[in-house]
Amino acid sequence: MKTVEVRHPLVRHKLGMLRDIGTDPVLFRQLAGEVAALLAFEATRDLPVETRKVPTWAGPLEVDHVRGEHLTLVPILRAGLGFLPGVQALLPAAPVSVIGLRRNEATHQPEGYYQRLADRMEQRTALLIDPMLATGGSAVAAIDLLKAAGCTRIKGIFLVAAPEGLRALEAAHPDIEVYVAAIDKRLDENAYILPGLGDAGDRLFGTPVG
Ligand code: PRP
Ligand code: URA
Repeated sequence: MKTVEVRHPLVRHKLGMLRDIGTDPVLFRQLAGEVAALLAFEATRDLPVETRKVPTWAGPLEVDHVRGEHLTLVPILRAGLGFLPGVQALLPAAPVSVIGLRRNEATHQPEGYYQRLADRMEQRTALLIDPMLATGGSAVAAIDLLKAAGCTRIKGIFLVAAPEGLRALEAAHPDIEVYVAAIDKRLDENAYILPGLGDAGDRLFGTPVG
């Protein structure tokens, strides 16, 4: 599995602010969106580019063009929604496919509650978006679902990943690519990432932690 830890100084700076427990949901959402855009920039380096002719002040010119309709952005609800605006800022024409998963806090297994995918999934590159890759169960389940819908090109964008989650993802889906701002140390006894940044959904949306 191709795994890229994006160690750009701006990513590291913003991630440090996200880890700060004093960062409130307003700033947290802003920073998460900014990091998401920087990760998406890396993840889309190899997107196919077509040319098309446009009129310019100097006459017709062949220019490069990325077709949003060859993509789909796939946030995993709910925390993935906090990442979505940053990625949409770069790829505004890409349709959004939504996968609702909630990790059972006792078993740590993901439980699905909603899905709504774009059409023609077999023709699209899917950018899976979720701030946290902990046990990897949610990402594996989401990718199972994308592949069942015919998707063959999948890239995952995560803020923080645990080594355990990366290993689980590699075992289940070695063909995907992963872009992450940081690979942290390990999971704690509740399958939270250490040092991580706590519960990403709660910090994004201002709900009680836990
Ligand atoms: C968090 C996170 C991931 C998942 C990661 O979501 O956003 O989706 O946990 O954990 P895993 O790798 O062990 O599966 P959560 O299930 O807490 O739901 P939420 O986004 O609604 O807060
Ligand atoms: N979900 C989170 O939001 N944070 C973690 O550390 C693990 C799962």
